[in-house]
Amino acid sequence: MSQASIQSVSRESRIFAPQDEFARQARVSSREGYEELYRRSVDDPDAFWLEIATEDFHWFKKPTQGLDWSNPPHAKWFADGTTNLAYNCLDRHLVGSHRNKAAIIFEGEPGDVRVLTYQQLHREVCRFANVLGKLGVKQGDCVAIYMGMVPEAAIAMLACARIGAIHTVIFGGFAAEAVRDRVNDAKAKLIVTQDGAWRRGNLVPLKENVDRAMRETPGVKHTIVLKRTGNEVAMDRGRDLWWHEMVETVSAQHRAAELPAEHPLFILYTSGTTGKPKGVLHTTGGYMVGAATTSKFVFDLREDDTYWCTADVGWVTGHSYIAYGPLANGATCLMYEGAPNHPDPGRFWSIIERHGVTILYTAPTAIRAFVKWGDQYPMKHDLSSLRLLGTVGEPINPEAWMWYRRVIGNERCPIVDTWWQTETGAMMMTPLPGAISTKPGSCTVPFFGVVPKVLREDGTEAGPNEGGLLVIEKPWPSMMRTVYGDDQRFKDTYWSRFEGKYFTGDGARKDEDGFFWVMGRVDDVVNVAGHRLGTAEVESALVAHKSVAEAAVVGRPDELKGQGLVAFVTLKQGEAPTKALKAALLEHVAQEIGKFARPDEIRFTDGLPKTRSGKIMRRLLKELASGNEVKGDMTTLEDFSVLAKLRADEE
Ligand code: WTA
Repeated sequence: MSQASIQSVSRESRIFAPQDEFARQARVSSREGYEELYRRSVDDPDAFWLEIATEDFHWFKKPTQGLDWSNPPHAKWFADGTTNLAYNCLDRHLVGSHRNKAAIIFEGEPGDVRVLTYQQLHREVCRFANVLGKLGVKQGDCVAIYMGMVPEAAIAMLACARIGAIHTVIFGGFAAEAVRDRVNDAKAKLIVTQDGAWRRGNLVPLKENVDRAMRETPGVKHTIVLKRTGNEVAMDRGRDLWWHEMVETVSAQHRAAELPAEHPLFILYTSGTTGKPKGVLHTTGGYMVGAATTSKFVFDLREDDTYWCTADVGWVTGHSYIAYGPLANGATCLMYEGAPNHPDPGRFWSIIERHGVTILYTAPTAIRAFVKWGDQYPMKHDLSSLRLLGTVGEPINPEAWMWYRRVIGNERCPIVDTWWQTETGAMMMTPLPGAISTKPGSCTVPFFGVVPKVLREDGTEAGPNEGGLLVIEKPWPSMMRTVYGDDQRFKDTYWSRFEGKYFTGDGARKDEDGFFWVMGRVDDVVNVAGHRLGTAEVESALVAHKSVAEAAVVGRPDELKGQGLVAFVTLKQGEAPTKALKAALLEHVAQEIGKFARPDEIRFTDGLPKTRSGKIMRRLLKELASGNEVKGDMTTLEDFSVLAKLRADEE
C-alpha cells in the first residue's frame, strides 16, 4: 500500500430505520440504548466484559480480571478464570425441558433430515471426547477435522474443546496438498474425516484426499472416518478407524476438562498477502465471550428462533456462528450439507419454508447468485417465518442488499451487515437490529468494546467520508492471540503498520453519521490516473446495472494512468454480451461514479474464479488482466473450468 489515501466514491444515501415491531421486542431497542452500552464498553472494557463473562457463562473458577494488556500485542482475557466452552454450549443447557430442545436440525443434500436435541448432542460429544481420549489425544494436542457439513463436524469440534485439544478445521473443499500443509503446520496427531461428502449431487472423496495427504504427514497416528456417503474407501488397519465403531466402545459420560481461559481452542488457516496461509490462533475464554455475546445481540436470539447460518464449518463464520456462538446461547441451529442450487435454485427457500427458519445469515456472493437465478425461486416459497437477515464475508453491493431486503425480507426484516475477520473471532462492526438504522452497503457501527478508526497513511485520522486504512485501537476479547508457530508474522502483519493498533488490511470510510463503509482489502485498491478507488465500488456500480449478475474489477498497469481497470462481468440469464452492452456499462459506471472510474476493458465471462468459500480470486484476475501467466497457489479455486474459459476468451 503506497497510496496516500483511498478515495471513496459510493453515493448511497438510502436509510432504513428499525421497524417498531422489531424494536419493541429487541434486546437493545434504540440508538440511545446502544450508545449507552457502547460508551460503557469502551470507557471501561475491563469491567464491561468481566460483568458479561461472569454473568452469562459458566466458570469453574470465576475470573477476577478482564483484560491483561501488559504485554502488547498479546492480550489475555479473563486469565485467572477456568472454564470449558463445550460445557457452556451443552451441559448448562441440560436443565428442565431445554434438554429436549433441538440443538441441531440437519438437512443432508439428498434430503435426509436429522434432529439432535441438546441432550442427544451432549451424549454424542461426550462419546467422541472419550474416543479421542482412548486414542491418546491429550490437552494441547492438535486434531485436524476435514469434513463436510454434517453434525459430526460440530461434534468433533466440541469434543476437542471438551478435552482441551486444539482443533484445526480444514474446509472440505481443500485438495490433498492443502490438507497436508495445514496438518503438518498445526502438528496434528489425528485427522477426523468422512468417506465422502455430497456436493451438488456429486461425491467429494474426502477420505481419498486424506490418504493422499497422509503420504507426507508423519505426525498423524490415526484417522477417524465417519460413514456418510457409503462409497468404498481404503481403510489402513490399525491406523484408520470407523467413527461408528469407535463410539460404540466408549461411554456417553464425560466430565468436561477445567481449562484456563487462555487455553488454545483452535487454529484456523487463512490466506494473507503471501502464498503461505496463516494459522490464526484463538483461545477459550475471550473467544467464547465474543462469539456468544455477538450472537445474542446481533441476531437478537430468542428462545423460539430457528437460526440458519449457511457458511461452512471450515471457515471462521462456521466456527463462531454455526458451532460456538449460537450453541452457547442454547439456540436451535439449522445445518445444511449441500449446494444452494441442488436439485434446483429454490433449495434455500424450500429449507426456510419447511423448517420455519427465522434468522438467515449468508454471504453477498450467495445473494448475487440468487439475483442471477431469478425471483421466481424465492417467490414460490412461504418465507414469512423469517424475521432477521444477515450477511458477512465481503462488501455487499447496495443493489444486492436491496434485493435481499425486498425479495427475501419482504421489506420487513432488518438486515445486519456484519464486518469481521478470521482474526477478530467475532463480529466487529454491525447494526444491532432493533437499534441501528441501516444503509445498503454499510456495516454501520462498532459492536461493544470495538474502537475502529480510519487512518491516513501517516497515521492521522481521516475526515468524514475520506477513505483510509481501517484499524482497531483497543484489544477485544475474541481477538486472535498469534499466528501459530510464527509470532513474528503476527506482529509484522497486524501490529507494525501503525504502532500499537491492529491493522485490518481493509480500506474504509466513516460517513457523516458515523457509519462505516468497508471497501475491501487494501490490496484490491487501485489508483487510476491519480484517483484512488475501491474496486468493490466499481463492481457495485456494474452490478447495479440491470443486465449484470456479477462483476469483479481489478487493476492492471497502465502506461498513461498508472493503473487501469479491467472488469470481468457475468450477465443475467437472457442477456447478450454485445458491444452495445459494453458501451452501456461504461456509461453506467460513469453515471454512477464518474468517468475516471470507467473500466478500460470489460470482459464478459460465464463465471468468475472463486475460492471455495465464495470469494472472487482477484489475484488470478489481476494476472489475467495484466496478460501474465497465471501462477501460484490455486488449491482453493472452486472451479478450474472457469479459469480455463477466461483464458480461452483472451485468444
Ligand atoms: C471482508 C470472514 C465488507 C473484509 C468473517 C475482511 C467484509 C475479510 C465483511 C475477512 C463485510 C468480511 N463487509 N467486507 N460485512 N465481512 N469482509 O477472514 O475484507 O474470511 O477483511 O472472515 O472479508 O475475511 P475472513
